[in-house]
Amino acid sequence: MATTALVGTQWGDEGKGKIIDILAAKADVVVRAQGGNNAGHTVVSNGVTYKLRLIPSGILYAGCDCVIAGGVVVDPKALLAELADITEKGVKTDRLHIDERVHIILPYHLKLDALSEKARGGKDIGTTGRGIGPCYTDRAERSGIRMYDFIHPEIFKEKLFDRVKAKNKIITQVYGGEPLDASAIYEEYTAYAKKLEKYVTDTSVLVYDAIKSGRNVLLEGAQGTLLDLGFGTYPYVTSSHPISGGFCVGAGIGPTAIDECIGIAKAYTTRVGKGPFPTELDDEIGEKIRTVGAEFGTVTGRARRCGWLDTVILRLAVRLNGLTSLALNKLDTLSGIEELKVCIAYEKDGKRTDHFPADIEELAKCKPVYVTLPGWKEDITKVNKFEDLPLNARKYVEYIEKQINCRVSMVGVGPDRTQSIYR
Ligand code: GDP
Ligand code: IMO
Ligand code: MG
Repeated sequence: MATTALVGTQWGDEGKGKIIDILAAKADVVVRAQGGNNAGHTVVSNGVTYKLRLIPSGILYAGCDCVIAGGVVVDPKALLAELADITEKGVKTDRLHIDERVHIILPYHLKLDALSEKARGGKDIGTTGRGIGPCYTDRAERSGIRMYDFIHPEIFKEKLFDRVKAKNKIITQVYGGEPLDASAIYEEYTAYAKKLEKYVTDTSVLVYDAIKSGRNVLLEGAQGTLLDLGFGTYPYVTSSHPISGGFCVGAGIGPTAIDECIGIAKAYTTRVGKGPFPTELDDEIGEKIRTVGAEFGTVTGRARRCGWLDTVILRLAVRLNGLTSLALNKLDTLSGIEELKVCIAYEKDGKRTDHFPADIEELAKCKPVYVTLPGWKEDITKVNKFEDLPLNARKYVEYIEKQINCRVSMVGVGPDRTQSIYR
């Protein structure tokens, strides 16, 4: 396995959690490098469902070191709740390591996330409301509070009081909100810091040593390519870098350390939150996909918007992430749909284009060019060999491979780790 990166190729929720869990069986170290508890990764293992947000999916394997690297933003309260939840399910958490550099999500980030969304009126981004954007804003502005500060009470106190004073001005004077009480936050959050202190270390050293000594390292992606701050559907994106380059700056490793990059896609497309979505289905097929595929958000429970597979997006993902293969999940959700459409290009101002546009103003002008493929009726959830899939299901997968010029190495036919076909 060496060092393998795993990234979402669409707008998130592609089933990364399931694939990470499968690959984590062979991994010595699993690393989360960006994002925060906006992520929701579902792992179904031996009949138990785990919803992981911040903790790397490798935590379910004894002996696997799990790293929350420096590029992640951590809500300590949410992390402790997640730790309590998995501990209750019998999972040991002593192999968790959190970098000293992670930025801490504090109550003013949560408040500012809600207030700024409200102030955008109908143009809100539809964030997860977890304070992610405001925390990364502070990081870029160089006014953030990092884990190192957080576990040193005197440093934390000084920085926190200073920040709350500044944030209260914005909360009250810009947004007309209620000010926060720094003393109350200090009291509550120093208790969290005490509980998290034992996990804190310089994880960039841990990851480097693991790679150097030949241990198998799995880089666990969160969000997806189109939610990337730079290359996604800006401004309807998250505030970090879910593309594979994000692992380098987030975990502190050089690009030459990554041996393989696996993209995860659904056999169709979904998106939560707002923003353009060319192949969105506003009809009974979209509704069927949502119902059969249980397309409701792991973090917020919001209904996910559903549409046909878009290979313009997948080609972008192959290019931006340097994908070496693709895992295609949820093929089972498409069973019973008579005809399947696949978007192979866009038509813009009467001209055909094969590339995803840089700006959403241009994307809004793009009409999908579809190819229609015949569907299949059979239940495929128990199939475990590619040859045993219905002919049309195989043709669907092979057509995608050809369109995106990338090998499909794995096909998902159900949420359980055993419902995977390897090729
Ligand atoms: P992630 O954020 O990329 O980890 O994905 P989520 O966990 O948010 O959403 C994916 C959903 O699809 C979860 O409920 C998974 O259990 C489920 N899932 C993953 N792979 C498959 C599959 O091949 N078939 C079906 N039916 N469900 C799947
Ligand atoms: P996983 O790892 C799907 C979306 C939000 C919103 C936008 C910005 O489970 O695939 P944020 O709270 O990050 O500022 O919201 O990004 N978003 C996700 N959508 N899956 C995710 O993670 C997401 N993380 C953020 O819905 O549109
Ligand atoms: Mg998710």
